[in-house]
Amino acid sequence: MDEVAQHGDMKRRVWLTYNQGVYDITDFVKKHPGGSAIMMGAGGSADPFWDLYAVHKEEHVLKLLEQYRIGNVRPDEVGSHRAGMTDDPWAAEPRRHPALRPSARTPFNAEPPPALLADNFLTPNDLFYVRNHLPVPTVEPATYELEVDGLGVRGLSLSLDQLKKNFKPVTVTATIMCAGNRRSEMSAVKAVRGLSWGHAAVGNATWTGARLSDVLRAAGLEGDAAAPGRHVCFEGLDTDPSNTPYGASVPLEVATDPRRDIILAYEMNGQPLSRDHGFPVRAIVPGVVGARNVKWLGRISVSAEESTSHWQRSDYKGFNPSVDWDTVDFSKAPAIQELPVNSAICWPASGDTVKVKDGTVALKGYAWSGGGRRVVRVDVSADGGATWHEACLTATEPTAPAGRCWSWCLWSGRVPVPAGAQTAQLWVKATDASYNTQPESVKNIWNLRGVLSNAYHRVDVKLKRV
Ligand code: MTE
Repeated sequence: MDEVAQHGDMKRRVWLTYNQGVYDITDFVKKHPGGSAIMMGAGGSADPFWDLYAVHKEEHVLKLLEQYRIGNVRPDEVGSHRAGMTDDPWAAEPRRHPALRPSARTPFNAEPPPALLADNFLTPNDLFYVRNHLPVPTVEPATYELEVDGLGVRGLSLSLDQLKKNFKPVTVTATIMCAGNRRSEMSAVKAVRGLSWGHAAVGNATWTGARLSDVLRAAGLEGDAAAPGRHVCFEGLDTDPSNTPYGASVPLEVATDPRRDIILAYEMNGQPLSRDHGFPVRAIVPGVVGARNVKWLGRISVSAEESTSHWQRSDYKGFNPSVDWDTVDFSKAPAIQELPVNSAICWPASGDTVKVKDGTVALKGYAWSGGGRRVVRVDVSADGGATWHEACLTATEPTAPAGRCWSWCLWSGRVPVPAGAQTAQLWVKATDASYNTQPESVKNIWNLRGVLSNAYHRVDVKLKRV
């Protein structure tokens, strides 16, 4: 292990250990999907990091690692990094609803069965998808403090009570969608790196909290302090082994615009936030990718640059289909903020047998667009796009002002199937208020991280004529 410790940087080559293996990963550092975070293990053991970032413990990752093996740790030193380490970072994880289907357990990532989504305009809290990157922190509400600091503000520290009492509570109905929602459809075209999400990494809820713009004003932010080019950075209370918190940011103009309805939420569907969804306080940034809706909010700071967090700078960005892990340069692409229009069929599911009545089959699902753009139309087809039929928008947010529709709509309809067919492929696409619509194929929007997957959603069904 002493020898390994001498190889902690690129100049001396980067070595690390995992179990008993010693690996020279110098040539892999640039290709690491998690960016420079890999250097946390440099010159030592990767084990504690992989305990946290458990996505690594998969066959294809272990195989890839083996290519870099240069030797073994002396038998008496195997596991020596664990000396004195007794805490299991996952010991305090909350209990979860058994209906949630995990794509990873540590960190916990799970989505509900899609059919449940289409039955509830407001997704029940216990069934709302969970996307965690780190262990869920245990936060005591009585001692909780939210720190506000940075450029143009005087330092402010708010208790949970102060946040609730000193600022007018605001309730917004907003959909949150993970950038990786529907990733598994991208992996079906070509392998991508990331958790295999289906189409239920999305949910809709009412959120109650203090307006971010009010809190920033209370911290003294005004006038030219809100100059363009600045950012509001959010830090979570969930941290990795090097004590680095989850973080993300949004441009300051967005944060200070009350019409963007960004809130520091303490309630979800009228209940205090659950631990998985950010208790006691999280940022709700309507219309913006889930990653910026930082949970377990510990600090808000105004900065001249974007959050330096890995998840802002080296993840959650889009690239063209020809960019691969040898050529990708995360510094060249903007961080995803507003999401594009998307929709999915929640019922029936692929493989289901459905009844044909009067030559048509029933289907239902959700549709949503980022940036406050209302979905104005949902089209379905069962003949490969030869004919399209408008679905009925069954649940919407009718009173949302123009450009501030943060919530999804649910839709349902019946679509004619080709005469005599035994099977059919059902398609859906949505169009938003800017007449943006979804791309036809996944192939041409494929990207190496499998984000922004919004091609027509397709479901293969067997037909039963009654
Ligand atoms: N905030 C913190 N502190 N830690 C996280 O891991 N995950 C982000 C975001 N906020 C995350 C976070 C991502 S990627 C998503 S999609 C949403 O939270 C998911 O929110 P949910 O788990 O409440 O559905």
